[in-house]
Amino acid sequence: MKLLVLNGPNLNLLGVREPGLYGTVDYQGLVDLVQAACDARGIQVRFYQSNHEGDLVDAIQAARQDCDGIVINPAAYTHTSVAILDALKAVALPAAEVHITDVTKREPFRQISYAGMACQGHFIGQGLQGYVNAVDFLMEKINEGKGN
Ligand code: DQA
Repeated sequence: MKLLVLNGPNLNLLGVREPGLYGTVDYQGLVDLVQAACDARGIQVRFYQSNHEGDLVDAIQAARQDCDGIVINPAAYTHTSVAILDALKAVALPAAEVHITDVTKREPFRQISYAGMACQGHFIGQGLQGYVNAVDFLMEKINEGKGN
C-alpha cells in the first residue's frame, strides 16, 4: 500500500508560522512523524508540499499512477479551490482531509471545505496527530476495499 501525503501553501513554514496555532514542530518534523507511522504500519508514503494550486492538482493526478490513497491538507486552498476538489473526484482514490487547527472554530471564511467534499475522512483540530489518524483511517478503508 502506498499513500500520498499532500500539503498546501505555507505548511512549509510549520514551526515558524503562527506557532500559537500550528505548533513549533517544523515541516521536516511532520514528515518524520508520518514517515515513522507509515514505516511501523508497513505502508509506503510519498510527501509533497507546494504553495501553488496547479502543482497540487498535478500531484493529485500523478497519484493515480502509483498510490492507493491520499492524505491532504490543502491549507488555504481548502476554502477556495474547486480545482483541487475536482482533481480528487477525478482520481477517485480514497482521501482524508487534515487540518492541524480546528477550522470549525475559526473565521467564517474557513467554514467551507471544497476539498473535504471529495474526502471520506476528516481529521480536524487534532494537531499533527491528525495526519497519523488519517493514515490509519485510509489503511482501514483501503484494506476493506481489498476484502481484508
Ligand atoms: C489549515 C487551516 C487553513 O484554514 C489554513 O489556511 C491553513 C492550515 C490547518 O491545517 O489548520 O493554512 O489547513
